Amino acid sequence: MRPSQPVPPSAPSPKPLLAALSGVPADVPPVWLMRQAGRYLPEYRALRKRSESFLDFCYTPELAIEATLQPMHRFDLDAAIVFSDILVIPDALGRKVRFEEGLGPRLDPISTMEEVARLRETGVTERLEPVYATISGVREGLPDGAALIGFAGAPWTIATYMVEGGTSRGHERIRKLAYDAPGLMERLIGILTRAVAEHLIAQARAGAEALQIFDSWAGALPATHRERYSLRPIAEIASVVRAACPDVPVIAFPRGVGIGYADYAAVPAISGVSIDQGVDAAWAAAALQGSAAVQGNLDPLVLAAGGKAMENGIDGVLSALRGGPFVFNLGHGVVPETPPEHVAALVARVKGTGT
Ligand code: CP3
Repeated sequence: MRPSQPVPPSAPSPKPLLAALSGVPADVPPVWLMRQAGRYLPEYRALRKRSESFLDFCYTPELAIEATLQPMHRFDLDAAIVFSDILVIPDALGRKVRFEEGLGPRLDPISTMEEVARLRETGVTERLEPVYATISGVREGLPDGAALIGFAGAPWTIATYMVEGGTSRGHERIRKLAYDAPGLMERLIGILTRAVAEHLIAQARAGAEALQIFDSWAGALPATHRERYSLRPIAEIASVVRAACPDVPVIAFPRGVGIGYADYAAVPAISGVSIDQGVDAAWAAAALQGSAAVQGNLDPLVLAAGGKAMENGIDGVLSALRGGPFVFNLGHGVVPETPPEHVAALVARVKGTGT
């Protein structure tokens, strides 16, 4: 548009995150960080004391709204991500979920078809109402230009917690179950696929402007099972969500799948793929940016380390990916030992406002 033609008030420029996810490259990419709210922030540690149980904290909109906005008050980020957890889905399906200090999440492991059949499929979004109340509350307090992201775990990653009973290194139980009891696995993945799609649609209706699906353990799947348990359920969720909410872009994060990322980027209902630090950024630019926006992929540990190594890392990611549709992020979440000043320095460097 020529400078003499003012932009009409009815057509505000899109928020930078949404422009990138619609496929438009920018000189200065939008930036947000997975786990940008959390224990590395002293104000989060103070707020967290107001609830004994982590899930109760997530289900108290007043606290979850504040936790979501804390990083927005400190840093010039282009998106907030609603403060919640991927394990609200098994909780809403009727499995007990507890978080133990130093041990992470604990669930009673599922191993039989009877237990799968007892999952309470109806009423999931009613039970997750506090998450939607948090989303509408956050929209009111969000800085201009920043977008609000809703999220859910992918069926496979949620299933790993339900079958393993917590965080697992080798995921032996669920990987063996996929061979021993494919019928049980299909049924569990099917239930989770429907619950996740409903939860994402409800978040969009409450005011989430983009949605991210975290398949944090996709890399634990043998390549021969990846399509069945990760790619296909995520593609199904993305297409159901897009049909219900055509204006809300979906980002997929199948962590650890390497060249398998190309299959996710090729899904028409997926607007963006979040790449982990194991993916070569130049490969991602060539192989993925033609079909989806790419988000990523600074190593969270170089953010924790800071200094020259961090500056070089940031510059490398920027130069590889800023020629196409791109959202600056980490390859995984911010780790608790990260000094908050490093996050401020990262944002300033990405935006070209640093020294
Ligand atoms: O800022 C944000 O990113 C929003 C909030 C958010 C949390 N969890 C809060 C949280 C998001 C997006 C998640 C996603 C999540 N939760 C994932 C996918 C991303 C990833 O890290 O791979 C997974 C696998 C979970 C499950 C989960 N939740 C685990 C394994 C743990 C324990 C490990 C840990 O980091 O403590 C949690 C707890 C959790 N979720 C915390 C936070 C801030 C820490 C608990 C606390 O503060 O007491």
